[in-house]
Parts: sequence; C-alpha cells; structure tokens
Amino acid sequence: MAFTVAIDGPAAAGKGTVSRAVAAHFGFAHLDTGLLYRAVAFRSLAGEDPIAAAQALVAEDLEAEGLRTQAIADEASKVASIPDVRSALVDFQRAFARRSGGAVLDGRDIGTVICPDAEAKLFVTASAEVRARRRWKELVERGIEAVFDEVLAEVKARDARDSSRMTAPLLAAEDAVRIDTSEFSIEEAVAAAVAAIDARLAG
Ligand code: CDP
Ligand code: CDP
Repeated sequence: MAFTVAIDGPAAAGKGTVSRAVAAHFGFAHLDTGLLYRAVAFRSLAGEDPIAAAQALVAEDLEAEGLRTQAIADEASKVASIPDVRSALVDFQRAFARRSGGAVLDGRDIGTVICPDAEAKLFVTASAEVRARRRWKELVERGIEAVFDEVLAEVKARDARDSSRMTAPLLAAEDAVRIDTSEFSIEEAVAAAVAAIDARLAG
C-alpha cells in the first residue's frame, strides 16, 4: 500500500522532528527533502555547477557530514530557487513518496508540487522568534557559537527567499492541516500530526 504524508513549513518549525516521529509511529519511510538541496549547496559551495550537482545527486550524498550548518542552509535556499535544480530532484522524491509501505516527506513544496495527491498533508509552522530560538539552542548544544539575533535574521531571510521565489514557493496546500507548534512541546506537536493522519487513514 502506498500512503504519502506531505509535511511542509518554514525553517525550524519542527517538520523533521514531527516527520521522524510520525514515520516511526506508522512504520513509514521518511525523506527529509531539505537534505537534497543542502547536498546540492554543499557541492555548489565547493565550486560545482548546482544544476549538474542536482542531476548527479546520489543517496549517499545525503549522509554527508556538515550539511546542517547555517552557511549550507543559506546556500541551499539560493540553489533551491533555480528551476533546473528543482526539476532534477522531482523524480527521486516522487518515487520515494509512492514506495509501498507508506512514506513521509518533509520540505517546502511537497503538498503543492511534488505530491499534490498525497493522502495526508500537514503544514507545520511556528512564529519566527520561536523557530529561531529552537535553531539557536540546537546550534549551541552542538557546540557551535551562535548569536540569537543573527539566527533570527537568517531564518527570516531564508523564509522570505523561500516564500517569494517563482518556482515552487513555500506555501500551504489548500487541503493541508495547519499545525502551529509555537506553544507546543514536541509531544503535543507529534500528537496533533498523528491525529490528523489517523483521520485521513480512517477516511
Ligand atoms: O525540520 P525543521 O527545520 O522544520 O525543524 P526540526 O529540525 O524538526 O526542529 C528544530 C528544533 O526545534 C529541534 O531542535 C527540535 O527539537 C525543536 N522543536 C521543539 O523544541 N518543539 C517542537 N514542538 C518541535 C521542534
Ligand atoms: O531544516 P530547515 O527547515 O532549516 O531547512 P531544510 O528543510 O533543510 O531546507 C533548506 C533549504 O532548502 C530551504 O530553506 C529551502 O530553500 C530548500 N528546500 C526547498 O526549496 N524545498 C524543499 N522541499 C526542501 C528544502
């Protein structure tokens, strides 16, 4: 049985955390599509042409160390605005989404462009301040020096770029269930997501 859960939302909203928990709960496979763009960004910063890098991307690239930095995130949102980069990554994502046994994909355009027919769509969001606080805490816990105001500015700049691009902008699908996690613990956010997906599985 193929069953696709599409989870979209802005940076550090909790998409990855919710996606991993939902995948474990339902026994579905999970793909963090941000890693595709981060892997292309990594190669682009090393001097490769981003379109060629996207066309040559292989699964192993997604396991590269060092994809979780602010510099890579920033470059990822730049290469992600190139239409040929995005189109090179479509087939891989769609094949993953339709694998048997169910799949959760999280990103920016899963419910709108990659999987418009997904059985369940969630839009996970939170205020920019809450998201920046979470990302800042994450960096500090990993021993990376970070200034909160700079993290907030980076998150806002990336959201603005992601929302305003011409191709596949960050956007909630009309039929997505919106989950604002600003006031939620991780457990509450996961419970809200599981309930929304249960409703679609039942329906
Ligand atoms: O994938 P995305 O960038 O949307 O976010 P994430 O990596 O899942 O979450 C960013 C950080 O926020 C992580 O450190 C989570 O543990 C934390 N988080 C949280 O504190 N409360 C939530 N309700 C969800 C995530
Ligand atoms: O973890 P965080 O939410 O901060 O970022 P991410 O999900 O790893 O995505 C990094 C960047 O890749 C985003 O800012 C987007 O520009 C781009 N991206 C995209 O355009 N489409 C996706 N489906 C996923 C990510």
